[in-house]
Amino acid sequence: MRLLVTGGAGYIGSVVAAQLVEAGHEVTVLDDLSTGHADAVPDGARFVQGSITEAGDVLDGQDAVLHFAARSLVGESVEKPGLYWSHNLGGTLALLDAMHARGVRRIVFSSTAATYGEPERSPIQESDPTRPTNPYGASKLAVDTALTAYAGLRGLGAVSLRYFNVAGAYGRYRERHAVETHLIPNVLKVATGERESVSVFGTDYPTDDGTCIRDYVHVSDLARAHLLALGAAAEGEHKIYNLGSGTGFSVQQVISVCREVTGHEIPAVVGPRRAGDPAVLVASSAKIEHELGWKAERPALRDIVADAWAALSPNQ
Ligand code: UFG
Repeated sequence: MRLLVTGGAGYIGSVVAAQLVEAGHEVTVLDDLSTGHADAVPDGARFVQGSITEAGDVLDGQDAVLHFAARSLVGESVEKPGLYWSHNLGGTLALLDAMHARGVRRIVFSSTAATYGEPERSPIQESDPTRPTNPYGASKLAVDTALTAYAGLRGLGAVSLRYFNVAGAYGRYRERHAVETHLIPNVLKVATGERESVSVFGTDYPTDDGTCIRDYVHVSDLARAHLLALGAAAEGEHKIYNLGSGTGFSVQQVISVCREVTGHEIPAVVGPRRAGDPAVLVASSAKIEHELGWKAERPALRDIVADAWAALSPNQ
């Protein structure tokens, strides 16, 4: 198929683009490089530098769009809500209009667990209430709402994948954010010597060791789900699937696995809670397993961390 990958120079987009190229698809990456890296665009993909608001001609002849381009920092979204609404919702609406004008009728959308907000139960199912607690989650939920409407009104075929905590690396494709907020890359930065210690944001949560529990899913498994979603996108339908590994690990458990994998002592400093962090976020991925036959092949946290570490330190 001829496929447009927006945000394909970013962490998750580049892994999906690489897997699509490997699967024999004709891939075009559209990325404005505001947070992505040109060298993350896989060999074999065409690269167009530009905004999703000006996708225009790039859409001509495409069979489907995989849409990753977005702002994705929860903290930044609280400080600059307008940026999130205009990029994530406004940008996507412009893209959907351009797709409609050019007859591109299928999209796989990068949604998030942040659409659920503070969960009522664990693991979270797709039918659970969506009450985002920050503009990032709210802007992604608004896109999900628009996709449902456009499926009904315009016959769009859409699949939203709600990611939990994506981590790990796929070969050379790894997480490289200018401002790194995520736990695993920050812990590994201590092992590489870029940071002296990692901060533990709160030890007074209602969990066994007092630190937050998250569901870590390997970026390679997550990417594979996009190829399945592409096959499942059916005109007139909007399907929504959670993507996690179904098991929760605490911040302390993540740090100890990183210590085991790297052999580094990784000093940890306990700090206050980070605003807006729910105590436990674990996905039920039963729906995508049942309907699309997806299964995590590398669900072990140790493997996820080992792959992230190998991509950071290829000679070790
Ligand atoms: N944490 C630390 N120290 C750090 C970084 C993180 O203790 O240096 C803690 C956080 O407080 C949290 C856990 O580690 O309890 C995981 O934090 P991340 O920032 O790695 O991930 P989040 O769970 O906050 O965010 C993820 C996605 C978001 C998404 C959110 C859904 O990265 O895009 O889940 O709630 F919005």
